Amino acid sequence: MRTEICKQLGIEFPIFAFSHCRDVVVEASKAGAFGVLGAVGFTPEQFARELDRLDEAVGDRPYGVDVVIPANDIPGAEKDPETLRQELFDSIPQEHREFAKKVLAESGVPELPPGVKHEGEYLLRSTAATARRHVEIALQHPNVKLIANALGAPPADLIQQIKASGRLVAGLSGKPEHARRHAAAGVDIIVAQGTEGGGHTGEIGSVVLWPEVVEAVKPIPVLAAGGVGTGAQIAAALVLGAQGVWCGSIWLTTTESDLTEAAKELLINAKSSDTVRSRSQTGKPSRMLRNRWTEAWEGPDAPKTLPLPLQDMISAECSTRAKAYPQKAREVTINPVGQIVGHMNGSMRTRDVVATLVEEYLEAAERLNKILEAGLYE
Ligand SMILES: Cc1cc2nc3c(=O)[nH]c(=O)nc-3n(C[C@H](O)[C@H](O)[C@H](O)COP(=O)(O)O)c2cc1C
Repeated sequence: MRTEICKQLGIEFPIFAFSHCRDVVVEASKAGAFGVLGAVGFTPEQFARELDRLDEAVGDRPYGVDVVIPANDIPGAEKDPETLRQELFDSIPQEHREFAKKVLAESGVPELPPGVKHEGEYLLRSTAATARRHVEIALQHPNVKLIANALGAPPADLIQQIKASGRLVAGLSGKPEHARRHAAAGVDIIVAQGTEGGGHTGEIGSVVLWPEVVEAVKPIPVLAAGGVGTGAQIAAALVLGAQGVWCGSIWLTTTESDLTEAAKELLINAKSSDTVRSRSQTGKPSRMLRNRWTEAWEGPDAPKTLPLPLQDMISAECSTRAKAYPQKAREVTINPVGQIVGHMNGSMRTRDVVATLVEEYLEAAERLNKILEAGLYE
């Protein structure tokens, strides 16, 4: 399984474990995979603390971080994030605020206690204003060997700065033409994410997208994402020309994952047909479990979802309330996850997930070898 990228990053397996949960990242990196911590849910101060604690736990193992800077970022990203957040928050139409509150009330989710803020009231997600601070912090942590951007290539000055520090830059893409743009911008690794994947996702299926992107950007290494949850799928990704895989969903139900037990249970019971691409969380299409929240925003009385990051500020109220009242919010909890959810039928330790993927990969490679050998000696 050792591909060139393993040597470059000093890892055993080309399995990239994307998670917003520090403990998953630690355990994945300690198991020989490459943990990547998503920064978008943290204020810069929280993120700095997360990375300090990650460093303490991970020893000399490398890991990566992932920031969210949209290719078409909003104007004003040079402003202080808090000033910009407040300006944007104030610009949210009353109709949208009321609609979100109505959906939550009709689903029986209590209001937050007085004085408790929801995330949209203190965190500006998905703009360079916050993400540049995340990158600055990441660059102060020597074990960070890779910085990825969720929505394309990072701005040119950041690419330069990251590379000059000896780290690799990755960009996610759901279309070959986007991947070509990232390649031209100087990205070192392209993550090609098929529509099956959890979170922001395009429309092209993984089996079609991966080889298209490999061809479009060669010789730049490609990581295959979207729907990977078994070792046989890793074998398929490598056969299709990828140098490794990038998985997000399968870590959500691990014992280390910080999702609430209620959210984990929903994922464990879900089938692969239970997800939908919805704009209801961020304003951009992203894959999550279909539920009363996603359906409500599709309904005839729903206002049109707002662009990033405004919709994010509205859905933040739903996410914060769901964390506070996980059982009562079961019908509306925003659960980003990919179609591989149908395969996530229990809770395992992260390190056991990595070990299982490796074993299954070997079995798949063995099956392929047998076919090849049978052909040779016919
Ligand atoms: C809960 C969740 C949150 C995600 N958040 C981000 C994010 O903040 N940044 C990012 O680059 N990708 C994010 N993704 C996408 C993953 O990086 C990855 O590309 C995707 O999960 C791969 O498909 P899979 O879910 O089938 O493994 C997220 C995915 C999930 C499931």
